[in-house]
Amino acid sequence: MDTQSFSGQHIAVTGAAGGIGRAFADMFLSLGANVSISDLKTPDCGLDRLKGFACNVGNEADVTKFIDDAENVFGPVDIFIANAGVGFGDGPDGNAAGASNEAWETSWAVNVMGSVYAARRLVPGWKKRGEGRFVIVSSAAGLLNQIGSASYSATKHAVLGFAEAMAIEHKADGISVHAVCPQYVKTNMTKGMSFAENNKDGLLEPSDVAQALLKSIEKNEFLVLSHPVVGDYFKAKAMNYDQYISGMAKLRSKLSQADVKL
Ligand SMILES: NC(=O)c1ccc[n+]([C@@H]2O[C@H](COP(=O)([O-])OP(=O)(O)OC[C@H]3O[C@@H](n4cnc5c(N)ncnc54)[C@H](O)[C@@H]3O)[C@@H](O)[C@H]2O)c1
Repeated sequence: MDTQSFSGQHIAVTGAAGGIGRAFADMFLSLGANVSISDLKTPDCGLDRLKGFACNVGNEADVTKFIDDAENVFGPVDIFIANAGVGFGDGPDGNAAGASNEAWETSWAVNVMGSVYAARRLVPGWKKRGEGRFVIVSSAAGLLNQIGSASYSATKHAVLGFAEAMAIEHKADGISVHAVCPQYVKTNMTKGMSFAENNKDGLLEPSDVAQALLKSIEKNEFLVLSHPVVGDYFKAKAMNYDQYISGMAKLRSKLSQADVKL
């Protein structure tokens, strides 16, 4: 696929008021696509090929309406990017189950159901057309773990499982699926998080993640690793799970001794 082939295509992105979502939108705009973006509040747009919508991805009616309204403007969605995400810390009591039920439920609604609702709406049309591309923004925390945020880790694992299920179920229907699993990226999510800002594996720009997705689309590969080192960590985890847990536990105590803000 050459980069010209996005001209006239319709790309829809959730959680795209800023950060990684907006970088996806900007990249596809620069490649000639029509782009629909949504967030909790309608994002600023100001271009003919870019339209903004309000959509809480944790609410199925909102997600359906976003896709209906976007398709009324630009026609059927070719690529949907389920990017909206939230993260909550475990809380101050040193308990992996310490985050509130509200934090767990919001994480499940946004990080998992946001993708499920969109897929439920899009798959029937894509099956009829014999093509479609669904991109789920999970995280390195979906392959590994996010120290200090069990709700984020569990829901990012869950949505990666959903991405795999979609890829398996719909390959024969011509639907491609990508799971984006970045480590730390410079956005509002990592602002003031010293472990992320000073991470030895680097803090990428949102545009680097967009470029990684483009490469994976070109190769039609499932896993999008903007930080290739995450693939090495994932392999090492699969080869020796106990060593992985011990290593992460050591890192956990090092960070708490240093009183690092996670
Ligand atoms: N920044 C990182 O280091 C990093 C690493 C791995 C994965 N991610 C993932 O990347 C995605 C984008 O995050 P980001 O880093 O750009 O952070 P961000 O906070 O800039 O973007 C997240 C966006 O999601 C929106 N959002 C939150 N709840 C929503 C809801 N209910 N409905 C619709 N939109 C909602 C927010 O308003 C925000 O604009 C998330 O899924 C995040 O988990 C981020």
